[in-house]
Amino acid sequence: MRICFLVEEQYRRDGMPVDVIRQLSAWGHRVDVLRPGGSLLKLSETVRAGEHDAWVLKTVSGGPGLTLLEAAANVGLTTVNDARSIRGVRDKALAAVIAEHHGLPVPVTYAAARPEEFAEIPAAAYPLVVKPADGSSGRAVRLVPSPDRLPTAGEEGMGGMLIAQPYVPNSGVDLKVYCVDGELYATERCSPLHPGQPVRERQVPLTAEVAAIATEVGAVFGLDLYGLDIVLGPDGPVLVDVNDFPSFRQVPDAVARVAWAILRLADAGPNRAGTAATAPGPGPFAPGRTAAPVGGAA
Ligand SMILES: Nc1ncnc2c1ncn2[C@@H]1O[C@H](COP(=O)(O)OP(=O)(O)O)[C@@H](O)[C@H]1O
Ligand SMILES: [Mg+2]
Repeated sequence: MRICFLVEEQYRRDGMPVDVIRQLSAWGHRVDVLRPGGSLLKLSETVRAGEHDAWVLKTVSGGPGLTLLEAAANVGLTTVNDARSIRGVRDKALAAVIAEHHGLPVPVTYAAARPEEFAEIPAAAYPLVVKPADGSSGRAVRLVPSPDRLPTAGEEGMGGMLIAQPYVPNSGVDLKVYCVDGELYATERCSPLHPGQPVRERQVPLTAEVAAIATEVGAVFGLDLYGLDIVLGPDGPVLVDVNDFPSFRQVPDAVARVAWAILRLADAGPNRAGTAATAPGPGPFAPGRTAAPVGGAA
């Protein structure tokens, strides 16, 4: 197959996606890599219909990669993930509305262009979590204990569209759930709001309740390769973030699984959004497969 990877500068040396690209090449597929933030793009030439079987996006929120992926989708090319689905999760304000509308357990979410606007939120909602609507990797996420501690527009990371949510009390350990090729994996990781927590990052069993939320996220947002951040609050699991093409850290054989999933999605064509979550069990990763699929309670 011929795959075009859009990889932004931030990820150009990361195992995810660099090792996936290497794996696909090793299996004999042709992979072209475009760096949307790092080179001049001849747009119409780059998005030439039929040139690639699929376009894959691994970029930061707000970066130029999504525009290019949307251009590819618009001329009928297959994209991983579906370009509209990516748009739905990259804006955290939009993602919260979509999730809430479909009955997913999300915190009450406020949006504002300036953090000072959050002063109208009732004091009873504090502490608040304030974060950039296009944030990722814990960038500029803040715990605000009281109205007098609200950040100001001039502070680092507070320049663009922001969201605020009541802080969901939790142990400081995030449950990160990853979906690849219809299989779910749960891992624990220290919350960026509680950096001192002594947490060993590891795969953990997935409860039926969290598995149901993760499957529903895939269906609601139309994502194939995705991850979600769950915090375990006093009333059960709460969804605080959804990511397209996450790190898949701690997923066993993540590189081979993700590479295999990309091939399956490329093969399925442009109108299969969200089908991975309901597809029959995973196939072999490749001729000469090395590991049996494990885990996953989807
Ligand atoms: N409403 C919330 N209540 C409790 N913790 C939260 C809340 N929102 C975010 N967090 C914590 O902050 C972390 C980062 O927020 P998140 O929305 O995932 O942003 P990012 O896109 O930067 O990862 C989450 O993994 C979680 O630990
Ligand atoms: Mg997150």
